[in-house]
Order: sequence, then structure tokens, then C-alpha cells
Amino acid sequence: MNNLAWTLDELIRDESSILLDTEIIRAIGRGSDTAVHLVKYRGAQAVAKMGNDTIPASTFLQEAQSMFEISGAGGFHRLLAVASDKPLIIMTLCEGDQVSTIAYEHDLKPTAWWINAFHNIAAAVQELHNTGYVHLDLKGNNILCTEEPKDLPAVHLIDAGLACKIGQVPAYFRDRSVPLSHDYHLWIAPEVVAAQTSSVLSDVYSLGMLFTNVRESYEECDPSEPWPEMLSDLEAQMTSYLPEDRPQLNEVIAILDGLSSSHPPV
Ligand SMILES: Nc1ncnc2c1ncn2[C@@H]1O[C@H](COP(=O)(O)OP(=O)(O)OP(=O)(O)O)[C@@H](O)[C@H]1O
Ligand SMILES: [Mg+2]
Repeated sequence: MNNLAWTLDELIRDESSILLDTEIIRAIGRGSDTAVHLVKYRGAQAVAKMGNDTIPASTFLQEAQSMFEISGAGGFHRLLAVASDKPLIIMTLCEGDQVSTIAYEHDLKPTAWWINAFHNIAAAVQELHNTGYVHLDLKGNNILCTEEPKDLPAVHLIDAGLACKIGQVPAYFRDRSVPLSHDYHLWIAPEVVAAQTSSVLSDVYSLGMLFTNVRESYEECDPSEPWPEMLSDLEAQMTSYLPEDRPQLNEVIAILDGLSSSHPPV
């Protein structure tokens, strides 16, 4: 069985009954309108994501449905329960640190480490695409990476908040009465922000933006080893405005494979 239940309906309950099975341990994360806690759910370690009053329960039900159908692909957390009446999701815990934390707060990692990490992130995204879903919100705090084993970072894509079937656009970007207030273009593909369409190349765009952010933080640390030029060229192609000008994910993976052989871990 791929999921922890056969159907999504089995995991939908009212908030009060979910909370009876939940013991909060500590806060582990925060989103723009959410609080995320490590909990014990039915006696086992899990994660609770709770939305504030501005988020309707239906938004979390949609996120839960995507999570259920993604079914662990790309290292995604699995759905354990979702509330029918409040924004509350219980899911499995993913190991690792946010890629943004690793890039900005940890000791400088060698380029060989980043090449392996990017390769494994791209492979995780490809696994997600094989389920028929696109993530559309790939950024440093929506990807967790373990630093052990040392040269083989394990990757977990997280946050199915904007995930949708390939070709669709999340409701969030459609039918808006007020203009978008965030700097979404800094990581979300232009065709998605414009609510036109989505494709696997929309995730390639976000990955390219992630590579850019990591390179910039790497270069700020005044490293002794230069960032590989091929990686900067790849990043530039991946962030092309038009989807047809971006490389396919399997081309990105092949380039990272080649780079990995020419940059063995030190
Ligand atoms: N299943 C999980 N396992 C481990 N950590 C998690 C999990 N889910 C969420 N987190 C942590 O909580 C943070 C916020 O969660 P999430 O990204 O789902 O919230 P959000 O409100 O959708 O965020 P955003 O600001 O991207 O919209 C994550 O960046 C991560 O650090
Ligand atoms: Mg997030």
C-alpha cells in the first residue's frame, strides 16, 4: 500500500477528534500563514501544520489531497489526517535541514557537495513529476536535505500548498480580486504567477532560481574554489522567461551527473 490509507476520505476527520489523538511537542517551522509543530499523533512522532484564521479549511483539504496523491514521491511527507472544519493537517516528519539554512547559516560547503545536492533535488522533482504533479513552490525552505551521509545528501520535497496536476494553475493565482503582494517572481515561474499554465518546466525555473540563490550565498563567503561555470550557465538557461527556452529536467540531471564526475568529493 502506497499511502497510509486506501482513500483520502479515511483520513478526513473533524479538528476536535484529531486533536484528541495529538500531543504537541515543540514548534519546528513557520510559513507565511501557518505554524508547524512536531507532535505525537496516536503515539508516534509526526508533524502538525495549522493555518491561521485567514485560511479556509478547504485550502488545506486541497493540499491534503495533493499530498495523498503524491504518496511519498520525491521524499514528500505522507498524509496522516486532515481536518474537515479547520486548517489542520497531520503528516509524517521529514528529516533534514532547509536548503536555505544550509546555504546561509552553515559552514561553507564545497561545490562538490552542492552538485550532489542539486542532482538529488532534481531527481526528487523528477520522481514527483512521474506522479503527474508539479510542485510550483520549490525554494530553499520547501526542500529539506540531510547532511549525512557526507557526500550523498538525501532530499525531501515538502509543502504541497501549491502543488497541482501538470498543466493546472493553483487556485491561489486564479480569480484574484487583489493583486499578488509577494515577490513570487523571485522563485515561481512567470507563466504560473500570470495564471496561464503550468508544466514540468515551471519547476525547472524554480530550481534554477534556487541554484542562483545558493551560488550567490556561496560567492559572498569568498571561497577559495570558484563556482563551476557550467553550473552558472545551466542556471541561466533554467531561469529563461519562456518555458520552451528552459532545459528539460533530464538534461539538467545529465549535466549535474557530468559535473559530479569532474568534481569528486574532497
Ligand atoms: N513534514 C515535515 N517535516 C519536517 N519539517 C516540516 C514538515 N512540514 C513542514 N516543515 C517545516 O515547517 C516549515 C513550514 O512548513 P510549510 O512550508 O509546509 O508551510 P507553508 O505555510 O506552506 O510555507 P510557505 O511560507 O512556503 O507558504 C518548513 O519550511 C519546514 O521547515
Ligand atoms: Mg513552505
